[in-house]
Amino acid sequence: MLALGIETSCDESAVAIVDDNRNVLSHKLISQFEAHQPYGGIVPEIAARAHLEHIDRLILQSLDEANVDLKQIDVFAATAGPGLIGGLIVGVMTAKTLASMFSKPFIAVNHLEAHALTVRFTNTIEFPFLLLLVSGGHCQLLIVEGVGKYKCIGNSLDDAAGECFDKVAQMLNLEMPGGPSIQEFAKLGDSQRFSFPKPLKKRGGCDFSFSGLKTEVKNTINYIQEKGASEQDLKDLAASTQEAIINHLIERTKNFLVSNESQSIKSLVLSGGVASNELLRSSLNKIILSKKMDFYVPPVELCTDNGIMVAWAGLERYRLGLSDPLSFKPKPRWPLDKIKNNKQI
Ligand code: KG4
Ligand code: ZN
Repeated sequence: MLALGIETSCDESAVAIVDDNRNVLSHKLISQFEAHQPYGGIVPEIAARAHLEHIDRLILQSLDEANVDLKQIDVFAATAGPGLIGGLIVGVMTAKTLASMFSKPFIAVNHLEAHALTVRFTNTIEFPFLLLLVSGGHCQLLIVEGVGKYKCIGNSLDDAAGECFDKVAQMLNLEMPGGPSIQEFAKLGDSQRFSFPKPLKKRGGCDFSFSGLKTEVKNTINYIQEKGASEQDLKDLAASTQEAIINHLIERTKNFLVSNESQSIKSLVLSGGVASNELLRSSLNKIILSKKMDFYVPPVELCTDNGIMVAWAGLERYRLGLSDPLSFKPKPRWPLDKIKNNKQI
């Protein structure tokens, strides 16, 4: 069984073909980061136009690499939200058109569900599992009970962790995306040099908050720059910021791990773009060693946005007899607990 997946929700245009034996037949991805670089952030209009420009070619290249033709594809899946509406429309319209041309099912994939299920493509793991989903737009702790079944344990009250990495990188004039730049810069810095107040210190539970931390970092940058900051000062600041973000993610996850509810959970999964972070991966691995739990994290190239996760989420849904009507409208906002399990096949 073959699925073609299209990802166009943000600034990556990606297409992949996977089969139900968890093989990648092809994967094509174009990152638009150079197009947005002069503007210091993603410009939705530029992103949508770029997706439109690239998508047909990526599909043709993907079919070529997989050595299959469109008639052999069993299911066409596209990210239908959450994300930037212009890009979502490009991906969804393309998948719907192909599905209707070849009388095959169309699957509207929730981008967060695609991140959540990636680990079932890379590993053999059963439901339920605990998921720390950390990306550029989201920061959530969830129990994944099944395809389309999510229980939210904690959510960000303001910014996402990836957003915090990106904003701080911008303040330090580092390249976008900010996470990998901060990670590299931080390797040359002293993470103990600056200490920032812990977010939500007086509030237990598993929610997250990064806006206060971001402001503290900004104030510190302004302060050291007034005094003529050296390159080493900025590296120390990057290292200290990374440490503060990761510590907050770990602390809030630990709060769940000591609760009674965690007793029935056997695995912790890390996913989303920030899951590429080496310090986060190793720190979570360490805390899980002391628990009777397994820790899973997809390889770095499957943590950041890609077409494989969309094709796979499409297959997971299709195998359960789920599909979506061609009237499905892309959703810029689409929380995981609002996913519907429509039987349309
Ligand atoms: O999942 P993703 O590719 O896109 C969204 O769905 O948002 O995540 C992108 C985010 C960006 O904020 C980027 O800075 C962050 O993931 N990121 C990282 C690393 N690699 C990507 N953050 C920290 N460390 C990294 N190595
Ligand atoms: Zn993502």
